[in-house]
Amino acid sequence: MPPEAQASRASAGRGAGVHVELGAVDEFTDRKMRILEVEGRELGILRWGDSFYAFRNVCPHIGARVCTGAVRPVIKADRDNPWKLVVDDERPVIICPWHRWPFEVRDGRSLIDRLRLKTYPVSAVGGRVVVELPPPRRSRRTPPAEAGA
Ligand code: FES
Repeated sequence: MPPEAQASRASAGRGAGVHVELGAVDEFTDRKMRILEVEGRELGILRWGDSFYAFRNVCPHIGARVCTGAVRPVIKADRDNPWKLVVDDERPVIICPWHRWPFEVRDGRSLIDRLRLKTYPVSAVGGRVVVELPPPRRSRRTPPAEAGA
């Protein structure tokens, strides 16, 4: 069970996302995924240099806890020399631990398929890491009729 974020609601506007504070920037190690329980969701929070990323910890393929996989830069063939491999440090990927599919950190897109990781906006504000989650869904069910009515 991942630790629960010591979350405090920064804001919850009508129809707007819910901003949840996750901790101090220094609590997030560069290039390490940290898994937190946030508002009933298991999220992976990644710091890559000065940038932060947040993912739902469910692989869109068949449901592995994708954020427990390795995170590393993409390795690709050099444009001018296809025999040479280059490391693109500006383009990290998450490797799913079950079937090794790589997903782009910057937008959650799979490099294998059209599937995407669910991502959330996250930023560092005043030295604190804040994630924005969608507003809670409202029930579409109509209330039960009152007894005796
Ligand atoms: S469950 Fe993630 S690649 Fe298959």
